[in-house]
Amino acid sequence: MPTLRPYNSITLQLSNFYSVNSLNDLERDAWLWLTSAPKRKRDGFKTMTLATRTLDGVNARTVVLRKADADAKTLWFHTDVRSDKVGELSRHPKATLLFWDNRRQIQLRLSVTTAPHTDDAIASEHWAGLWVGGRKMYLSEHMPGLPYPEPYPGFPAQFGENLPTEAESEAGRNNFLVVECRVLTMDYLHLSRAGQTRARFRYEPFPGMEWLVP
Ligand SMILES: Cc1cc2nc3c(=O)[nH]c(=O)nc-3n(C[C@H](O)[C@H](O)[C@H](O)COP(=O)(O)O)c2cc1C
Repeated sequence: MPTLRPYNSITLQLSNFYSVNSLNDLERDAWLWLTSAPKRKRDGFKTMTLATRTLDGVNARTVVLRKADADAKTLWFHTDVRSDKVGELSRHPKATLLFWDNRRQIQLRLSVTTAPHTDDAIASEHWAGLWVGGRKMYLSEHMPGLPYPEPYPGFPAQFGENLPTEAESEAGRNNFLVVECRVLTMDYLHLSRAGQTRARFRYEPFPGMEWLVP
């Protein structure tokens, strides 16, 4: 029979990057990485895979993490209001956000419920913080995903490699959507030769945390 120890007495040695000694520390680290990633150029958590439900199956794509709030357990990303994912999320607001950081050898799988922001204060705040290069993709005259007779760059061809002016970029505001993702559960997995670590953190409907068999 293995001897069982209380969680808070377990000290796990995890790679050279950090060590954790409780579920609380591990969760705090995960949120610290998520909140700092948008400001760090080459952070592994800067992009994530968004998985959604479609009418006849599932869909997945990469999106950029724009902001995370550890207290509100909420993440935000930007997208074009005309894209397929928006229709999918409006029909089925629950989604999965999947992160993989190769350097830290950490996977985070977040089950979320989403809400769109188009013409409110949240959307305006994100739009104001977006540089003209980021706004350029919202200037597309066409619906993302539509067939086109020739290669289309995703913005009016006249811009070429140039950036729009601040005033020109404002035309993209109508196509801009911020998706708010409230985290329901976070599944944490750390890979290591010395032993893998897996844990689940629940936020809604009932808070809780537990170790899982990897
Ligand atoms: C590195 C990378 C980052 C991306 N970031 C975003 C993003 O933040 N928002 C977005 O809508 N699409 C982003 N895309 C494009 C999407 O992956 C996808 O191709 C596009 O949004 C259309 O998706 P949909 O048809 O499933 O809606 C990114 C693609 C890559 C490769």
